[in-house]
Amino acid sequence: MSLQKTLEQTQSKNCTIEIFGLGYVGFPLSIRLASSGFKVTGVDTDSKRIKRLQNKSLIESELTLRKEFLECSENGNFVPSGFPVKTNSSKIGIICVPTPIPKQNIQSNVFVKSAVENFLGTCTHGDIIIIESSIEVGTTEEMKQIIESRGFTVGKDFGLCFCPESIDPQNQKWKLENIPRVVFCSDDTTFQIIQKIYQHVNNSNLIRVESPKIAEVVKSFENTFRLVNISLVNELAILCDKLKINVKDVIDASSTKPFGFMPFYPGAGAGGHCIPKDPIFLLDSAKKFGLEFTTIQDALKINSFIPKYIANTITKTLNELKLAKSVLVCGLSYKSDIEDMRDSPGFKILNELSLQNYQISAYDPYYKNDLSSKYLEENHITGLNFKTLQDLNDDSVRHFSCICVVQHHTKTKFRLAEIYKNSLVSFIYDCQNQMVKESDSKTILKFFGS
Ligand SMILES: NC(=O)c1ccc[n+]([C@@H]2O[C@H](COP(=O)([O-])OP(=O)(O)OC[C@H]3O[C@@H](n4cnc5c(N)ncnc54)[C@H](O)[C@@H]3O)[C@@H](O)[C@H]2O)c1
Repeated sequence: MSLQKTLEQTQSKNCTIEIFGLGYVGFPLSIRLASSGFKVTGVDTDSKRIKRLQNKSLIESELTLRKEFLECSENGNFVPSGFPVKTNSSKIGIICVPTPIPKQNIQSNVFVKSAVENFLGTCTHGDIIIIESSIEVGTTEEMKQIIESRGFTVGKDFGLCFCPESIDPQNQKWKLENIPRVVFCSDDTTFQIIQKIYQHVNNSNLIRVESPKIAEVVKSFENTFRLVNISLVNELAILCDKLKINVKDVIDASSTKPFGFMPFYPGAGAGGHCIPKDPIFLLDSAKKFGLEFTTIQDALKINSFIPKYIANTITKTLNELKLAKSVLVCGLSYKSDIEDMRDSPGFKILNELSLQNYQISAYDPYYKNDLSSKYLEENHITGLNFKTLQDLNDDSVRHFSCICVVQHHTKTKFRLAEIYKNSLVSFIYDCQNQMVKESDSKTILKFFGS
């Protein structure tokens, strides 16, 4: 086979697409491509995930794709599997696996490398690999060397692309289908192939850059931009606390400037699998040249300090009010309306409060008790014990001196407003500055940044 043949088979949808990693990135991509008529195998090393999908069972974040998922499972266009397969048709492997923060004994490319090697075991000339995972500078080149060590020549008889995913979960305006994608491609034919594929993803709104390093830096830089601005506004919120002015008033007034300003809003810190992690890739890259990249270092430092600041503010207020050290933390996912709890500020606040000997409990409608040890692992926390509430009924919330709202989910907003209105707790601390003050409530409502 040749890349030209793969192009023809992609055009007629006779190629086989194998997507490695069926998580937040890989699952929607699989369903989108399978729904548009491609034969897609979803490969995941998590056997529970594969079994769940084979049993047609979806988790909350996947439910919006239920109809398409059932259709393409039924017509055989989407097959979840534990391993890739040899086929007679051209193969396109799309890598959507996690990229951990590099540590002494773990490299960020560990899963990307194993997925690439796994795919190569069933490959032939003319096949292509598209990496969608966020990766450190140099990873595409490393994958090129692995591919070439198997007897292929990248750019001639094997295609390699880095096309980083930029999805923003729950963003109602910018979704998979309308977010433009930056892409590096080893050669023109491979670019034509991926244009045919991404036509069904984002109408082929692809911005081709000439080197893998550019694409790799772009991905990390975008998330660095977010982290730096989130840290900036959170530090401003601390100043506004001291000045006793509302940081939102400052942001809203600043936003009237029609150029050179973009609003970011305060919260308990950036979380998730991307924003606190990808800047570390850029920082590590800079360190290899003896550069400090202090902007990133400071932003990371501030981001990890905010949960401590919030815990200390709660302590100060409870001391002033002479109230017991008992707090209910509401909202444990890193973002509103999603179930992703990775690197989430809610857990960090719980941990801080626990270190200060608080009686702590948590509530999140997306929290699953059977995943509690996974959540702690994903948050790099050990030995944290806390109770979880099943709901926010009157009796259960009355026991707490304070509710600390870290994340406002649509599912809890109304109930939290009711708890406040009915003065069910003495003190509410709103990290996101979203609740509306009510003169009738006896509850003290404080915001981060006011
Ligand atoms: N979640 C987001 O919003 C988002 C946005 C943009 C980019 N990204 C990036 O996309 C990548 C994937 O993120 P995610 O959130 O989808 O992760 P995820 O943890 O939700 O899913 C990854 C899946 O890959 C599987 N996996 C691990 N190693 C594997 C292997 N060798 N072969 C096959 N499957 C394997 C895991 O079992 C898991 O199911 C990461 O690099 C992330 O930084 C994520």
